[in-house]
Amino acid sequence: MKKIIAVDGPAGAGKSTVSKICATKLGYTYIDTGAMYRAVGLKVLSSGKSVDEDLIIEMTRDIKIELDEAARVFLDGREVTKEIRTPEVSRAASDVAKVGFVRQKLTELQRQMAVRGSVIMDGRDIGTQVLPNADLKIFLTASVSERARRRFEELKQKGVAANLATIEKEITARDKQDSEREIAPLAQAEDAVLLDSTTMTIDEVVAEILRLAKD
Ligand code: DC
Repeated sequence: MKKIIAVDGPAGAGKSTVSKICATKLGYTYIDTGAMYRAVGLKVLSSGKSVDEDLIIEMTRDIKIELDEAARVFLDGREVTKEIRTPEVSRAASDVAKVGFVRQKLTELQRQMAVRGSVIMDGRDIGTQVLPNADLKIFLTASVSERARRRFEELKQKGVAANLATIEKEITARDKQDSEREIAPLAQAEDAVLLDSTTMTIDEVVAEILRLAKD
C-alpha cells in the first residue's frame, strides 16, 4: 500500500472531497494544504491594513495553523473552518500563495505533518515541491465549466446565492494566478497520474485512487 499520497490540481476539481473519502477508507490522515493558505489569507484580510508583501510576511512570521483529525482549521488558536471558505478568502489565499516566505513556511509545516506517513495531502505543489518522493501522485482535473457547475451546486445546497458565470470567472482567474506564479506554480508532476474527472462520479474517482494506492 502506498503510504504517502499527493493530490494536486486546479480549484474545484474535487481534490478535497475525494481525498477525504480516500483517507477515511485507508485510515490515513487527510491534510488540506489549501486550508493553510486560506488561513494566511484570512489573517491578512482581517488585519484591516493595506495588503503588500511586507505585511503578508509580517503576518506569517509567527502564525500558528493547526488542522485536526476532523479537518477543522485553527488560526492562532481560533477555529476558522467556515470563515476561510468565502470567495474573498479564496482570492486572498491565491495572493499570499505567491509570496516565497509564505510558501517556505507552509511547505516546512506540511512536510512535518507528513513525516509519520499514512497521509493523503492535497494542494497545488504537493507532488512537485512539498512531497516529491510521494509514493503516489495524482493530478486531478476537470473542465472549467464542470468545476464551476459543481461549486455552484455546492453553494446552492448550502442555501448561498451564487451566479454560475461569476463562479466560472473566479475559478479561471485563480487557476491562471496559481499556474503562472513564479514559485511552485500549479503543475502536474512528471510522475503523476492524470485523472480527468469531468465525466466521472466521486465514487469512480475514489475507486481509481484506491486501486492505484494498492499497487
Ligand atoms: O485548494 P484551495 O482552493 O483551498 O486553495 C486556496 C489557494 O491556496 C489556491 O488558490 C492556491 C493556494 N494553494 C497553493 O498555492 N498551494 C497549495 N499547496 C495549496 C493551495
